Amino acid sequence: MGMHVAASMTRGDFLRGAVCTGLLASGSGCMTARSGLFGSVKGAPMHGFAAPRLGRIRLGIVGVGSRGFGVIGRVCCLPGVEIVALCDINPDKIAAAQALLSKKGRPAATEYLGTEAWRRLCDAEDVDVVYNTTPWSLHVPVQLAAMRGGKHVLTEVPSAFTVDECWELVETSERTARHCMQLENCCYGEIEMLTFNLAKLGMLGEIVHGEGAYIHDLRHMCESEYPGCEYWRFDENRAHGGNRYPTHGLVPLCLTMDINRGDRLDYLVSLDSSKANFGAYMDARLAVGNPRRGADMKMADMNSSLLKTAKGRSILVQHDVSSPRPYSRIQLVTGTKGAICDYPFRVVFEDGVGTGAHEWYDAARAGEIREKYRHPLWKTIGRLAERVGGHGGMDFIMDARWVYCLQQGLPLDMDVYDLAATSCLCELTEKSVEHRSRAYDIPDFTRGAWRANRPMDIVDIDLGKMGVDECEAGRAEGQLSV
Ligand SMILES: NC(=O)c1ccc[n+]([C@@H]2O[C@H](COP(=O)([O-])OP(=O)(O)OC[C@H]3O[C@@H](n4cnc5c(N)ncnc54)[C@H](O)[C@@H]3O)[C@@H](O)[C@H]2O)c1
Repeated sequence: MGMHVAASMTRGDFLRGAVCTGLLASGSGCMTARSGLFGSVKGAPMHGFAAPRLGRIRLGIVGVGSRGFGVIGRVCCLPGVEIVALCDINPDKIAAAQALLSKKGRPAATEYLGTEAWRRLCDAEDVDVVYNTTPWSLHVPVQLAAMRGGKHVLTEVPSAFTVDECWELVETSERTARHCMQLENCCYGEIEMLTFNLAKLGMLGEIVHGEGAYIHDLRHMCESEYPGCEYWRFDENRAHGGNRYPTHGLVPLCLTMDINRGDRLDYLVSLDSSKANFGAYMDARLAVGNPRRGADMKMADMNSSLLKTAKGRSILVQHDVSSPRPYSRIQLVTGTKGAICDYPFRVVFEDGVGTGAHEWYDAARAGEIREKYRHPLWKTIGRLAERVGGHGGMDFIMDARWVYCLQQGLPLDMDVYDLAATSCLCELTEKSVEHRSRAYDIPDFTRGAWRANRPMDIVDIDLGKMGVDECEAGRAEGQLSV
C-alpha cells in the first residue's frame, strides 16, 4: 500500500496528555480509562457524554444564509427551543430571519451584526447552544469560541478542515465538557437509517465494505445570477484538491460500521481525476473581466478516496460537484448476508430475498423491505418530517433528535470524535492526492477508546415528552429539497 505518513503527529501527545490530566484534576469528565500521565492518556471522555437536562434551549444562529434560515422554520416546530440570537454580516439576512420569527409568532431575537459579532454571541449569557451555519472559514473559530463561552455547538459540514483543527476541537470539547457536534443531516436520511437498522438487526451479516459520495452538480452555484450566491464555496474549491466535502457520504457509513465504537478509520489513499468541467462551465457563463474566469481550479471533477478500517473493512468515498450527472450519495453497504444501495434504492439478502444477482432489481420486494424495516425514528417522525421539510425531512429529524437529547439529558448521536475522524479527510485526501496517492494515517482521535466505546443504539424520539403538536407543525420556509 505504500508508505504511511503519520499526519496525526503534528500535535504532541504531551499536549493531549496534559489536557486530560487537567480534566482529571478538575474532575470534569475524562470518564474512560487512561493508563497514566503525559503521552499515555487513553480515552474519549466526550463519547457517551450527557449534559444536564436543558428543558428550555436558548439557541443562537451564526450565519443566517441558506442553511441558517432553514433552521428557524424547523426548530420553531419544536417546543422548548427559543431562538434568542441571530448573527450575520448581512443586515438583509437578519431582517428576513426576524420576519420569519415574527410570522411564526416568536419574539424577535437579539441581533449581532458584523464580521466579528459572532464572538459576542458566543459569550452571551442568554445563549445555551450555538448553531453554526457559516461559510467554511468560520467553522472552527466559531466552534472554539462557543465552547470557550460555555455553549454547546452544532456546526455544518465539514466542521473542520485540518488534522490540527480536529485535535483542537477534540481537546476543547473535552476541556470545556461541551457538546461539539457536526450537523451531518445525511445520517438521518431514510435509506441511511434503514441501512443502519438492517445492519444492527444482523440482516446484512458481517459488514465488509461501504461506498458513499457527494455527487451533486453545483456548477450553477458559482454563477453570479444564482440567488444568494456569495462565491465563497467556489473560492474554497478553487484553492483545494482532494475531497473538500467528505462527510455526507462517509458519516452514515461510519455509524453503520461502528467507527469509533468498535472499529476505527485507519488510513486512506486518494486520487483526483482531471479537471474538465468547472472551469469550462464558468468561462462559458461569466462575463469577460470577471476575476473567476480562467480560474486555476485545484478541485478535480472527481475525487475517489479509499479508506481502510482497523478491522480490515474498506470504504470508498467520492466527491464530484462539477459533472452533469444525477445526484447520488451511493450508500452501498455490503455484508456476508446481503447488500443495500441507493440511487436508485436496491436491497438483497442471501436468505430468501433476491438470492440471485439479478433479483437485486426486484423493486417490489425492495419496497416491502424498505417499509418493514424502516428505522423506528422514521416511523415515529418521518411523516411529520416530510411535511416540515429540509432535504426530504432528514434535516428536521436531525434537529428533533439533538433537541430531544438535550432536553432529556441524553448523549447526542454524534460526538466530537465523529466530527474529527471524518472532517480530517479534507486535509488528508488533499495531501494524498498531492503525493501520488500515498497512504496517510487517519488519527485515532479517541486515543484507543474506540475498542470499548458502545455502538450506537437504534434510537427514537418520544413526541409526547417533547410536546410536539403534529397538527401545528406546518411546512417550514426556506427548506432545501435536494
Ligand atoms: N448539510 C447540508 O445539507 C448542507 C447544505 C448546504 C450547505 N451546507 C453547509 O452550510 C454552511 C452554510 O452554507 P450556506 O449554503 O447556508 O451558505 P450561505 O452563503 O447561504 O450562508 C452563509 C451565511 O453566513 C453569513 N456570514 C458570512 N460571514 C459571516 C460572519 N463573519 N459572521 C456571521 N455571518 C457570516 C453570510 O452572510 C451568509 O448569510 C456551509 O458550511 C455549507 O457547507 C450544508
